[in-house]
Amino acid sequence: MKHELPIVHALQRHLDRTPISWHVPGHKNGTLTHLPDFFKWDVTELPGLDDFHHPEEAIADAIALLQKVYGAKASHFLVNGSTVGNWAMLAATATRGERVYVQRNSHKSVFNALEWLRIEPIFLEPDIHEETGISGHVSRETLKEAFTKYPGGVGVFITSPTYYGEAADITSLVQLTASHGLPLLVDEAHGAHFGEAFGVRSAFELGATAVVQSAHKTLPALTMGAWMHERFSEKMRRKLQRALQAFQTSSPSYLLLASLDYARSYREQWTVRGMSEVQASHNAFIEALQRFDHMTVLRFDDWSRMTLTYEGYSGDSLLHALRAVQLDAEFALGDHVVCILPLRPLAKSEQNDWVHRVERAIQMMKSEGIPLKRYIEQPIMGKIQVSALACSYEQLEQATGMFRQLDECIGHVSLETIIPYPPGIPLIVRGERITAEQVLRLRHYQTVAVHLQGGEQLQRGALRVIEEGFEG
Ligand SMILES: Cc1ncc(COP(=O)(O)O)c(C=O)c1O
Repeated sequence: MKHELPIVHALQRHLDRTPISWHVPGHKNGTLTHLPDFFKWDVTELPGLDDFHHPEEAIADAIALLQKVYGAKASHFLVNGSTVGNWAMLAATATRGERVYVQRNSHKSVFNALEWLRIEPIFLEPDIHEETGISGHVSRETLKEAFTKYPGGVGVFITSPTYYGEAADITSLVQLTASHGLPLLVDEAHGAHFGEAFGVRSAFELGATAVVQSAHKTLPALTMGAWMHERFSEKMRRKLQRALQAFQTSSPSYLLLASLDYARSYREQWTVRGMSEVQASHNAFIEALQRFDHMTVLRFDDWSRMTLTYEGYSGDSLLHALRAVQLDAEFALGDHVVCILPLRPLAKSEQNDWVHRVERAIQMMKSEGIPLKRYIEQPIMGKIQVSALACSYEQLEQATGMFRQLDECIGHVSLETIIPYPPGIPLIVRGERITAEQVLRLRHYQTVAVHLQGGEQLQRGALRVIEEGFEG
């Protein structure tokens, strides 16, 4: 299959003219920097290079190729990651004050979008894998419960796959949402590589209404490069387009667009046979890791991603030990580390080298690492599967609140959002009534030094909460 790269070729044609830049950006085709050549590719929307917000030439051709690969009638390039895709999907689906059913362990971009767009969330707690404490997916039962307890929503928003690589049962959720006449929006940030060749179907192929994918997370695209596929109604698509124009820059990076062009082409070259060879090499590597005593390697649907635990040690200790042997994993939480492997065949020599490095990391961790007290995560909302915010966004905006020590916060409404980062999934959401489970988990994260975003006085063990009775 030949590489069709409309944006890359338009840029190449442009550069072949050896142009002199009298336009933005200020590095003038890279002549004002000593950094490598890629600055040359950072141009603006010049003749022949199309218009990002009104594509008719190279960008339109690249979008047509993208649509073909993902079997979509409408796709959109995103130059601010899945973050902007999540904002735009929500803006297209709901207007101010309307209700949307949202998976509780969504990425922080979703909570930001809900608050700033003033969309009322009804949170859906995912099921938790009992053994590991790892979050799974929202069940049909939970979604049905939400429809009954909080009727009148205009859409459902879920995340699939999880950070751990587990895909939701999209077919069954599509059936359920369609029977209620609701669109199913899917944050598939970690699934741009899904499709027939990889062996796991994308949520879009399975009938979801709109799907956002961070091409940069698993395909060879530059950071922030993402795309969206959708089958919205004409009316919703118009709204989506207005949202994308409003939320995205008017100066899209051609470096980024060219990398999206390339990532699509890379993904397009895959065949079922070729990918099964890649998978076999990944399997061989994982089997070798499983031979270490006390090491558990978990894999869900996405076989290119693995979750490692080493009995008795925290994920953080393991992450640091791996770093010391130059193996940089994605993130650590609780007792585990998530690793995202390259989507290419792993050579035997490479596998052997990695296995030896892991062995050295384990030895190092045992001599220096701090053993972990067994801890299994609990659902953050306790036994509550479906919940709403405890107060309106207007109340949140007006409240000043006060700092309370963590244990005293239980039962009060939080004015702060606390986010373990990565993965960027809020533990406590602004406006939520704080549960004992959240405080327990927060304390545990502090003990094992998880990096937390938010919480002005969290270091001193306090959170800002609304003093009910004193404030509206
Ligand atoms: C599930 C999920 N959704 C959305 C995002 C945001 O993606 P991006 O970095 O492409 O904006 C992330 C980033 O980590 C994520 O993990």
